[in-house]
Amino acid sequence: MNILFATSEAHPLIKTGGLADVSGSLPRAIRNAHQDIRLILPAYPAAVAGARQLKPVAEFSLPGSKAPVRLLQGWLPHTRVRLYLVDAPEYFDRPGNPYTRPQGGDWPDNAQRFALFARAVCAVAMNRTALDWQPDIVHCNDWQTGLVPALLSLETNRPATLFTIHNLAYQGLFSHDRLHSLQLPADWWSLEKLEFHHQLSFIKGGLVFADHISTVSPTYAREIRTKAFGCGLEGLLEHRKTQLSGILNGVDYQVWSPGRDTLLPHTYTATRLAGKRRDKAELQKAFGLPARPELPLLGHVGRLVDQKGIDLILELLPTLLQQHPMQLVILGTGQPELETALRAAATQYPQQLAVRIDYNEALSHLLEAGSDIFLMPSRFEPCGLNQLYSLRYGTPPVVRRTGGLADSVVDASEANLRRHTATGFVFEQADTRALLQAIERALALYRQPERWRELMRTGMQADFSWKRSAAAYIDLYAGLLDSPHQYRATA
Ligand code: ADP
Ligand code: GLC
Repeated sequence: MNILFATSEAHPLIKTGGLADVSGSLPRAIRNAHQDIRLILPAYPAAVAGARQLKPVAEFSLPGSKAPVRLLQGWLPHTRVRLYLVDAPEYFDRPGNPYTRPQGGDWPDNAQRFALFARAVCAVAMNRTALDWQPDIVHCNDWQTGLVPALLSLETNRPATLFTIHNLAYQGLFSHDRLHSLQLPADWWSLEKLEFHHQLSFIKGGLVFADHISTVSPTYAREIRTKAFGCGLEGLLEHRKTQLSGILNGVDYQVWSPGRDTLLPHTYTATRLAGKRRDKAELQKAFGLPARPELPLLGHVGRLVDQKGIDLILELLPTLLQQHPMQLVILGTGQPELETALRAAATQYPQQLAVRIDYNEALSHLLEAGSDIFLMPSRFEPCGLNQLYSLRYGTPPVVRRTGGLADSVVDASEANLRRHTATGFVFEQADTRALLQAIERALALYRQPERWRELMRTGMQADFSWKRSAAAYIDLYAGLLDSPHQYRATA
């Protein structure tokens, strides 16, 4: 099959979160299964600098761009995945983050930027760019590509479309007048199409018009059809439930394996754990905490946003740190008020708590390796990758039973411990009491070295490689081709 995978970030070219990890590794797994999958993303400076053997292959005009748009072709590093970068310097040749300005806040022209990107994806999808290659499937990811299925619905003989939701909380909402300035069909302004509470919703382009919708875990696929998780889109998702499914993300074990991780000072495996103890000492040093090998060291890394339940950790700190001999390290960037609160807490408990407000790939690997226990008390979590990494790194995670966390961590109940299936600590309610109980269960088991080692090893040996999930995507693509465009919510 020919597949065009459209995304706004991909590791190792450009990354703000898990979408980049998935976009950098799923296409490779699908390519290894002998499918012709090609990646397309905007030509941000970092992507241009990082891509291999880049050369211009096409140039065309698109509504929304004064200058012609160029298509650069190269390879995703360390893979046989062909890469297209949409080169529109007016929109993408900018410093910093793909979505926000260096000084913070969204780029004011995000609607124009990702509308233009969507139009370029459609030009490739319809083979209008002199590439002489046409995909059978266009696989879109998150709101930044939401207009692609919508625009393709206007075409005849179009490829089938799949829209994957990595996070329903980010919807690409813009003011009504954009509909006109982006030259989108006026009849898209309706609740059945792209209107959402008097705003123009890019994500609805994917949710309404794609032939199939997927999300990144089976549990999240069910959760988003409910009010509690649907972010106002639960009605639409319920309506499309027969074309909605969940496939759990995989892990790129070439990048995330403690035995061969080039970003770690000391490597280790499930049977040779000495390197992990040394990484713990390195982590304590890097965060400026006293070197106390005997104390349990808890860790968290992630975007500092409401989704991740950082507020629960913050609220729990006094109880946790005053009642338990332990240390905690946190690495992240995000909402200013959470950054400030974490910094303040760190000054209050300098012997026990250290916080780094930073985005640092190498440090995130060291934190996964050097911690004893990983905290991930997310209020919702479409899949989550950090808990999968922490399992591999022998750092049992404490997680809430939601989304991909529920689908990947087996609670250390007495029964599961006896069955040798336990890998972490799972709690139900998003409140401090439940989180505290789960952490206390973890600390209690940590004091029983034999049982703890077994818990670590079970997690380290669990297999979340892409193989199974890539096969599930390939089945899904094939199913879409068997019944092409069975569903069309077209005009
Ligand atoms: P999300 O996509 O919601 O951010 P995931 O758990 O799926 O959550 O993936 C997060 C990815 O981003 C992981 O690879 C994680 O290591 C990385 N990451 C998040 N914050 C940071 C940070 N401050 N420094 C380095 N890596 C980070
Ligand atoms: C999103 C989700 C996260 C998921 C990632 C990759 O950012 O928040 O749970 O793992 O996308 O699919």
